Amino acid sequence: MLRVDFVTLFPEIVLGSLSHSMMRRASEGGFVTFDAINPRDFCYDSHQKVDDVPYGGQPGMLIKAEPVALALEAIESNPESREERTAVISTDPTGRRFDQAMAREFAQASRLVFLCGHYEGFDERLTRRFCTHSVSIGDFVLTNGELPALVMVDAVVRLLPGVLGSQASLAADSHSDGLLSAPNYTRPEVWRGEPVPDVLRSGNHEEIRRWRRQQALLATKLLRPDLLAKAKLDKRDLDVLSS
Ligand SMILES: C[S@@+](CC[C@H](N)C(=O)[O-])C[C@H]1O[C@@H](n2cnc3c(N)ncnc32)[C@H](O)[C@@H]1O
Repeated sequence: MLRVDFVTLFPEIVLGSLSHSMMRRASEGGFVTFDAINPRDFCYDSHQKVDDVPYGGQPGMLIKAEPVALALEAIESNPESREERTAVISTDPTGRRFDQAMAREFAQASRLVFLCGHYEGFDERLTRRFCTHSVSIGDFVLTNGELPALVMVDAVVRLLPGVLGSQASLAADSHSDGLLSAPNYTRPEVWRGEPVPDVLRSGNHEEIRRWRRQQALLATKLLRPDLLAKAKLDKRDLDVLSS
């Protein structure tokens, strides 16, 4: 079972979001546990002040190192006591860009701990000492790290064996084999004058597989040509792409 902890000033945002749909089913099914700890509970001054002004006259406020360190120690996520296969992940727009390969890597862990930033983020010394990864979900800036952590957890948990009804649907997803997904259709057979492609109603599984591969290649070439450089392509794929 994967254990996921969030260090967050807003536990209710995180745990509330995870109590629906697939994430709820995954935790009720015993595939994952979710917990949240609030660094504010580890501030021992009278105002429980978790932030302070940055050195150097920078604008905004930073989350102080000590309350977060105490929270991480309380859940045994410090370098000295954390168990093996634990990833302590700082959500950070300056971090490595999250992608499906990283989701697969995190799905192998036994424990994930997400640090959700606020204001201008964390004191650098905290993340340097405690975090194994610093991860961004894209080249834009959000107000908080709760949403990035939830995005990553969703991508990871759906990869855990048994969480999705069918493993085949994982294999057909975009990015599972480095390409975008082929387009999909459902009933009715003709919708507002547009029919479903004939091949999908042919019952010929080999032809359908080939058609889907071709469509995936063409969609990737059109929409995300950068992905093709890393995808595993055979001679037939290269023929499709050069046609
Ligand atoms: C306003 S941002 C801080 C931005 C920071 N001053 C900078 O320029 O890199 C507040 C928090 O939101 C989260 N955050 C914002 N954008 C993010 C992104 N693209 N990926 C991951 N986390 C992000 C981080 O936890 C960050 O500490």
